[in-house]
Amino acid sequence: MRRLVMIVVLLVAVGAGAWFYLDLGLDDVGLGGLNIPGFNQAPDGPVVLTMDCSSVGREYELCVDRLEVFMERTGYRVIPKPGPTDASLHLSVLQELSLTRSQGLDVYAVDVIWPGILAEDLLDLREYFSPADLSDFFTAIVDNNTVGDRLVAIPYYTDAGLLYYRTDLLERYGFDGPPASWAELEEMAQVIQAGERAAGNDAFWGFVWQGRQNEGLTCDALEWFASEGAGRIVEIDGTISATPNNQQAIEALGRAQRWVGTISPENSPEIDEEASRAIWQSGNAAFMRNWPYAYALGNSEDSPVRGLFDVGPLPSGEAGSAATLGGWQLAVSKYSRFPDEAAELVRFMTGTETQKYLAIEGSYNPTRLSLYNDPDILAANPFFGSMLDILNGAVARPSTVTGTDYEAVSTVFHTQVNEVLRGETTPEQALRTVEQNLVSLRGEGW
Ligand code: GLC
Repeated sequence: MRRLVMIVVLLVAVGAGAWFYLDLGLDDVGLGGLNIPGFNQAPDGPVVLTMDCSSVGREYELCVDRLEVFMERTGYRVIPKPGPTDASLHLSVLQELSLTRSQGLDVYAVDVIWPGILAEDLLDLREYFSPADLSDFFTAIVDNNTVGDRLVAIPYYTDAGLLYYRTDLLERYGFDGPPASWAELEEMAQVIQAGERAAGNDAFWGFVWQGRQNEGLTCDALEWFASEGAGRIVEIDGTISATPNNQQAIEALGRAQRWVGTISPENSPEIDEEASRAIWQSGNAAFMRNWPYAYALGNSEDSPVRGLFDVGPLPSGEAGSAATLGGWQLAVSKYSRFPDEAAELVRFMTGTETQKYLAIEGSYNPTRLSLYNDPDILAANPFFGSMLDILNGAVARPSTVTGTDYEAVSTVFHTQVNEVLRGETTPEQALRTVEQNLVSLRGEGW
């Protein structure tokens, strides 16, 4: 099983890598590819670095803004790269670059679940960041980025799942606040959707979220599970809890299956973060589950929902409200030709000045505690006042316990959950398959 998963991962990686290369915009620098030995080595010229800027929402654009400042200050050249918006695809690309020991990407953007997976290909940054340099960052994230005793990545921004809700529509339909429970959300979504459709908007939906078969779905489904006390797929001690004996998990999946085509679009099993934001931001949804980045975009000048929404904790199940912990780190590739300069870039991009810029312009949550008292940041994002609590209580995916197996664990899980959403299997059968696959992945131990 392990070998099969590995082969599949590699096949996907080759395809994804080709896509990434084509999409890198390297043609404009006349390079046409990343793997050309020595292409970023400029013996007599300036340093040329390459940075993975990701590309969800305004991420790429804001990253480029900051790189311009860095270039001006240092005289180095940095080529930004728009990483895939799909986190699962993004990982495949980074794994392919690492596998081929590519020197084409100096600074990696690393999802909070990847330090264990990518550790061997990343530089130990303790040489560049002293304990004093790290003291302002959230300790839990620094710990997450420390594999063995190596510090493989520096926290860039953090996030957690949130509920976005239309304040104007809640008021119009006589609700005095956002839904506290999943049952309330269903009821409000039905009422608002029926009313908006009767008023002539056929494209209106009650609730949009992420059902597409990728890492985003693992995050959403983990929230459904954790809020019902159904566990976190694999527990901290390594026990597999996504099993057909888990009644709360069966119910949570059954409920999400019922949403599809009733309060949520029929094509929910295809919808990712950006697709759900498109529906929401065009004014066609009452509620949305998404990450904090959608706040700044929803309030941008040309947004139809500007000023018409607020954001808060996700609805509670039997066990309370649960948000999946997300977030990104920056790391230096072990194969970089310019490790010192790349580490300097990581220091700049994770520094207070850049984090403040990302928070104000893009509502990206800082990973530095001191910035949560910054009046400019709080003025731009009033909801950041309650974000510390949400982040502190957020549920981590089981990436530490499953280590290098995490991607395979998550793939098994979101593949089955997606089949449930499509109505191709039942929650019980899906959980049976998940359990079988996880048992075989685990083998003698994670
Ligand atoms: C967000 C989160 C990340 C998560 C991804 C899933 O980017 O920050 O942690 O894996 O969404 O789509």
